[in-house]
Amino acid sequence: MPVTVAGVEDYFGESVAARYDESSAEMCTPEAVNPVVDVLAGLAGGGRALELGIGTGRIALPLAARGVPVCGIDLSPAMAARLRAKPGGEAVDVTIGDFATTRVAGSFSVAYLVYNTIGNLTSQDAQVACFRNAAAHLKPGGCFVIEVGVPQLRKLPPGQTVVPFALSATQWGFDLYDVSTQSMSSYHARVADGRGEFRAIPFRYVWPAELDLMARLAGLRLRSRWENWAGEPFTHESAQHVSVWEKAS
Ligand SMILES: C[S@@+](CC[C@H](N)C(=O)[O-])C[C@H]1O[C@@H](n2cnc3c(N)ncnc32)[C@H](O)[C@@H]1O
Repeated sequence: MPVTVAGVEDYFGESVAARYDESSAEMCTPEAVNPVVDVLAGLAGGGRALELGIGTGRIALPLAARGVPVCGIDLSPAMAARLRAKPGGEAVDVTIGDFATTRVAGSFSVAYLVYNTIGNLTSQDAQVACFRNAAAHLKPGGCFVIEVGVPQLRKLPPGQTVVPFALSATQWGFDLYDVSTQSMSSYHARVADGRGEFRAIPFRYVWPAELDLMARLAGLRLRSRWENWAGEPFTHESAQHVSVWEKAS
């Protein structure tokens, strides 16, 4: 069961944090990380960066190693402890709290929220608050960047509510959609060292156009939307997007 931190349920407690890097190994390779860091370092342009949901530092640590001062917010003390224990971790200032509401001192050239983490906010109100919070941290001309999947509703035939995303001899994963509430729950089951593990996380899926409206409510305007960090065009077949909203100068 998740514990509650700052009034919000923490789904990234000790047992998840202990194997987060291993279970996200594909997302931790230089091929996955370097293009993200290239884009964010370019947007930082010599200024500071703020990561919402900084986790174990998958992006923050290599970004800091490029010379960008990085701060972060995360709900999970266990994830933040993993970051602090890594080389360079002492240079990254992490505040424990809810990134929809927690304020960090100073202003930033770029704030970013990657790896589908906007969906961890399970209400529209919380997602709107997150945009307002990100915008409040930005300098004029600063950018807010989100990387998130496009809701996979095209994979749901009439009457179906489930989309599988992992299936192997030792791992099973599926997403359960409720289109009446725009909620989605991810269920993960796996066998490791002869033991079964089960984990369920609630998400709120959100469309690109809805994110643009949240950005407008927060005083931000869409600057770029790509399919990926290499800047390839976002199309009707794109399964995810990287979007950049800008605060007026
Ligand atoms: C999928 S992980 C991503 C971590 C990191 N950004 C990365 O790319 O590897 C999501 C992270 O967001 C944090 N998180 C989820 N909801 C949060 C919230 N409301 N406020 C602060 N952190 C939150 C979790 O604790 C976790 O560390």
